[in-house]
Amino acid sequence: MRLHVVDHPLVAHKLTTLRDQRTDSATFRRLADELVTLLAYEATRDVRTEAVDIRTPVASTTGVKLARPRPLVVPILRAGLGMLDGMVRLLPTAEVGFLGMIRNEETLQASTYASRMPEDLSGRQVYVLDPMLATGGTLVAAIQELIKRGADDVTAVVLLAAPEGVEVMERELAGTPVTVVTAAVDDHLNEHGYIIPGLGDAGDRLYGSA
Ligand code: URA
Repeated sequence: MRLHVVDHPLVAHKLTTLRDQRTDSATFRRLADELVTLLAYEATRDVRTEAVDIRTPVASTTGVKLARPRPLVVPILRAGLGMLDGMVRLLPTAEVGFLGMIRNEETLQASTYASRMPEDLSGRQVYVLDPMLATGGTLVAAIQELIKRGADDVTAVVLLAAPEGVEVMERELAGTPVTVVTAAVDDHLNEHGYIIPGLGDAGDRLYGSA
């Protein structure tokens, strides 16, 4: 597994406002969307392309377009949905699948409650969206499902990560073609599985249910 922490002042600025408890849901959603687009720019650095011949108004030239099969973007419900628009803004031709994962707050184990994506992901590049890489349980389970279906290149885009979650991903996904792109790796997880300093419950802050 590869870890890529995007070091950019605009990323740091938006992340600071997301962390601030005074930021309301509408602002949180807008900033999360903008932050995802910045992360998406880095996350798609290795998106596959193919050469195309085109004509400008004055000459012939060769360029690139995204290769087939189309990339698949998979937000993990529910909080990953808040990242979808920001991601597909840069990849408008991507196909979108959905994975519903829920974490048992006592055992911190993740299980799948909904899945809507192609059975066969052979040869596909997949971008998984989940705002918080906390214990790693949800992302590991989601990525194992994608790899089982044949995905040969998986990039997880997360707003924030905890070192404990990164370690679990490195251990459980060793030797797999997985990259994690994040705005920051925070200090630690608390006893309730929250990232510290973090930004609180991403789903609640996105959807105003706090
Ligand atoms: N999920 C969240 O929404 N926040 C955390 O800090 C950890 C997991």
